[in-house]
Amino acid sequence: MTTPLRIGVLGSGNGSNCEAIMEACDRGVIPGAVTVVLSDHADAFILERARHRGIPAAFIGQSQFKTKLEPELEQHLVRLLQEAQVGLVALAGYMRVVKRPLLHAFAGRIINVHPSLLPSFPGLKSWEQALNHGVKVTGVTVHFVNEGVDTGPIILQEAVPILPGDTAESLHQRIHAVEHRLFPEAIRLFAANRLRISGRRVDVTS
Ligand code: GAR
Repeated sequence: MTTPLRIGVLGSGNGSNCEAIMEACDRGVIPGAVTVVLSDHADAFILERARHRGIPAAFIGQSQFKTKLEPELEQHLVRLLQEAQVGLVALAGYMRVVKRPLLHAFAGRIINVHPSLLPSFPGLKSWEQALNHGVKVTGVTVHFVNEGVDTGPIILQEAVPILPGDTAESLHQRIHAVEHRLFPEAIRLFAANRLRISGRRVDVTS
């Protein structure tokens, strides 16, 4: 019997992926629980979703930067995660680049969901990038986080076709539906200690 995984979720916006993770924990699909939800936006709906379920949720504080946190603020974030005794940090629509304080404190224990088939279309609004580029297939990637932007070892990927007449919204909606399945699945594998990182590869053990 493994100890239940304590999950800390970071997000900047709506939090539908966080909802999917919390649901998967409630249903027992993930042997664990979300024990804290933190956001870099005071009014992010992700915080409401957590509070609605009685899960501690907090705004981490004002940053002077848009795409990263100053080291002191990231250190504060690390403390909040450590106080909640989390064993995994899940980035669910967290729109800042993770830097050394967090990477160091949770090495090999930070997972991100990204709305494209990496290494294609890293960065922002990847579904729009895919649509504008004219690719026929895009998808979802769940990966470990390293010091790069969307460059960490890939855990799971699933393709999403681009259909005639797709808009950015319709495509993102279908991508979201896949994310809500794939992200909890990757966390379930992590919780079961079935992921082995070797270099760029992640092997899923049986
Ligand atoms: C998701 O599509 C996620 O993949 C994306 O933001 C959305 C958040 O939705 N993340 C990134 O683009 C990170 N580079 P949600 O707040 O409803 O979970």
